[in-house]
Amino acid sequence: MNRTFDKTDRRTHYCGTLTKDDVGKNVSLVGWAQKQRDLGSLIFIDLRDRTGIVQLAFDSDTKKEVFDAAFGVRAEFVLAARGVVRPRGEGAVNANMATGEIEVAVETLKILSVSKTPPFAIVENSDVKSELRLTHRYLDLRRPDMQKNIIARSAVAKIARDYFAENGFIEIETPDLIKPTPEGARDYLVPSRVHPGKFYALPQSPQLYKQLLMCSGFDRYIQIARCFRDEDLRADRQPEFTQIDLEMSFVTDEDVMEINEGFIKTLFKKFLGLDIETPFKRLTWREAMERYGSDKPDTRFAMELCDISDAVKDCAFGVFSGAIADGGSVRAINVKGGAALSRKEIDSLVEFVKTYGARGLAWYKNADGAASSSYSKFLTDDENNAVLEKCGCDTGDLLLIVAAKNSVVFDSLGALRCHVAKKMGIIDKSKYNFLWVTEFPLLEYNEEDGRFYAKHHPFTMPMPEDIEKLDTAPGEVRSVAYDIVLNGVEVGGGSVRIHDGDLQTKMFSVLGISEEEANKKFGFLLEAFKYGVPPHAGLAYGFDRLVALMLGLEDIRDVIAFPKVQNASELMTKCPSAADPASLEELSIAVTKSEDSE
Ligand code: AMO
Repeated sequence: MNRTFDKTDRRTHYCGTLTKDDVGKNVSLVGWAQKQRDLGSLIFIDLRDRTGIVQLAFDSDTKKEVFDAAFGVRAEFVLAARGVVRPRGEGAVNANMATGEIEVAVETLKILSVSKTPPFAIVENSDVKSELRLTHRYLDLRRPDMQKNIIARSAVAKIARDYFAENGFIEIETPDLIKPTPEGARDYLVPSRVHPGKFYALPQSPQLYKQLLMCSGFDRYIQIARCFRDEDLRADRQPEFTQIDLEMSFVTDEDVMEINEGFIKTLFKKFLGLDIETPFKRLTWREAMERYGSDKPDTRFAMELCDISDAVKDCAFGVFSGAIADGGSVRAINVKGGAALSRKEIDSLVEFVKTYGARGLAWYKNADGAASSSYSKFLTDDENNAVLEKCGCDTGDLLLIVAAKNSVVFDSLGALRCHVAKKMGIIDKSKYNFLWVTEFPLLEYNEEDGRFYAKHHPFTMPMPEDIEKLDTAPGEVRSVAYDIVLNGVEVGGGSVRIHDGDLQTKMFSVLGISEEEANKKFGFLLEAFKYGVPPHAGLAYGFDRLVALMLGLEDIRDVIAFPKVQNASELMTKCPSAADPASLEELSIAVTKSEDSE
């Protein structure tokens, strides 16, 4: 059997592109057999490539050896076929197929390779378990929806490169074997053979290098950069992911926002044909938390948080009054039409908020005619009425209330708000609500080790009016940082950087990083800052998240060709895996614990 691909087999057309206009043309096609149908004197093969499917026809006019070859074809065989495009017969037109009006009468057929029966059918909208799909990712990627996603990703990258190039950005690659960057996650370490006992880190982001490029005078930098973070995975997190990373010199936060609004506008117009309104809405971090319980609010629906602390601070219900006395608050969301939820459904919401640290969820169901509640018997009529009024609770509504310290109230109600909105189907999926969240706290206090950590990273500029509080009330200092949020997802974030050596030193001291430690970790940056550093600012998008959202997908794995699963392994190649002893020896590494021996 001749399986050689030669020049007579060269493709003249992609399968999915043939139309009535091509009738009469001699075409040469290549691709995979989707299926073969043998009707005795007639054989049809659907031939598939990344553009779609076309029907190959073999009948009594076909040469016997070609007909016989077609007879042996099975799903996923790789074929080269030459023939003539002809209209389909009366009644054989398939309106559901882009090429449904034509077929190709095959004159020569070559089977370039055969296929075992695949573990799942190569079709759109597969309901096959994701483990099986990922174990055979090369087959999964043959499916039309995955091909569409990966091709879309490439188109988004192209639009990004073009936009930023047109706006004077220079694409520069930064290294992957580096000294650790402080983005808050654990590093992946790479041992050095040449320097026994020493390690590189894989970059959590190109942060420090892009700042150095500003020191070098490149002025506007962009990179589609691979980042590595050893953190717990979720649907929107991967251990290796991609950023559209940029940095600009001699700019303010407003300039960075403007150039990025321009990018999003261009991207959505070119890719989805949609007009995104600019400038985007802006919310300060505080307002986002108070109104939505989240620093990445989904503003496609209202259901805003309502602070009822004043109304219940003196009530006899200890859960409410106690939380306020302890410095926390009592807040509610009003689920319009939520009184229709059953007790069982409400109970499941109680369980839901517990996963966010709330001890419970109080509720008030204003059903037509009969109100019921988990807490109102402990409140006076005045207190009850004040709560209902404050929340605008009408007939048919359901109030859901959390009393706890503020961080728990925000976390639990913020998540509950989205959970309930999804459950009630009130989210308009056609909307793309962009917004900037600004004025983040500069620092975050960690109760476990009793110290402050940088919320974004230690190079982020404090708001000038808050700088003096660095000594007196560090927890209240706001930063010139901004996140770009789309439909409740943080798609990007950035900040104005500190470019004043003294302020940077101050920042390290507030973070409890000694001068010695700062020099050891970031000495190169501090040294660079001594030779004329321009004011600079930047931002990075989570590229995978952005593409997934544009395609309406919830899991970023669907836009990554070869993703990892929850436990950070790759099912197809089965990595990570044990290293062979000789390699370890060469790297001067002794393994003290291994998964296999546990
Ligand atoms: P940040 O850490 O906020 O900022 O990251 C920027 C964006 O990257 C995306 N992202 C991720 N996507 C997938 N998987 C992950 N594990 C993951 N982690 C983050 C998010 C996030 O908004 N150097 C700074 C940027 C800057 O200041 O310029 C940085 O990396 O969408």
